[in-house]
Amino acid sequence: MADFDPVTKAVVPAAGLGTRFLPATKATPKEMLPIVDKPAIQYVVEEAVSAGLLDVLMVTGRNKRSIEDHFDVAYELEDALRAKGDEERLNQVKEPVDLATMHYVRQGEPKGLGHAVLCAKQHVGHEPFACLLGDDIIDPRDPLLKRMIEVRATYGGSVVALMEVPREQVSLYGAAAIEATDEDDVVRVTDLVEKPPADEAPSNWAIIGRYVIDPAVFDVLERTPPGRGGEIQLTDALRTLASMGPEEGGPVHGVLFRGRRYDTGNKLEYLQTVVQFAANRDDLAPEFLPWLREFLDKAGQ
Ligand code: G1P
Repeated sequence: MADFDPVTKAVVPAAGLGTRFLPATKATPKEMLPIVDKPAIQYVVEEAVSAGLLDVLMVTGRNKRSIEDHFDVAYELEDALRAKGDEERLNQVKEPVDLATMHYVRQGEPKGLGHAVLCAKQHVGHEPFACLLGDDIIDPRDPLLKRMIEVRATYGGSVVALMEVPREQVSLYGAAAIEATDEDDVVRVTDLVEKPPADEAPSNWAIIGRYVIDPAVFDVLERTPPGRGGEIQLTDALRTLASMGPEEGGPVHGVLFRGRRYDTGNKLEYLQTVVQFAANRDDLAPEFLPWLREFLDKAGQ
């Protein structure tokens, strides 16, 4: 079996304007919206770390400073909590700082996800890397990224995470044409289309926001013209890689994910995510769930 370079770096695009959550996101990055009491972006960094990726590059932009502050030391707050002897909160404040080595690069212009990934070129260099989109949170009990890294170690090239969605929702995602392999949860990706109309989608298998990408993607992205929405699409660059041989940066495989994924990219699913996380918390569920039941009973009358 070929010996492929290990994956050690994660890239997290976080330059989006968050227009779906205005006015909350006028002065606060959408990545900082809390899921109960932790900003969404911290779950994403924790996921990268639990897959063994301790080097995290965030692709940010204007108005994103609070993300950097969140992963940095907060001296005054720490001193105040230390003086009060509040160890528990002190640990909560320090936790995001100790997670990973954080790096930041700015995406000057909002030219799409492919362009955001291209901004990582210098930091990533010639290694394969993981890319995690902040709108998707994967349940820590269903370790998807680790599996994707294993699949990259077996087949080389790039790996996308695929989830089956109802046909009418496929136009919200990149969709994949797939072929079976000898492994139940792994497919060969033969084509990819960004946000196809439902009747043109190659399948119901949608790309969710987790990727392991071969560094050949950078050259491809530099040559990729704007696609859907007039933006440089990562899906289009991966489509090119899917047609290439191993010497040029291909192939592309998919891991079929059947675990728990939470979408925080729109208001309804964000609310559903917060409720599900609260329902799973030992400190909140005993009071929250009976309240929720009563609330729903009353609302149903
Ligand atoms: C991006 C990708 C799309 C993918 C989706 C997953 O779209 O372009 O291919 O299916 O993330 O969440 P976005 O949701 O950022 O428009």
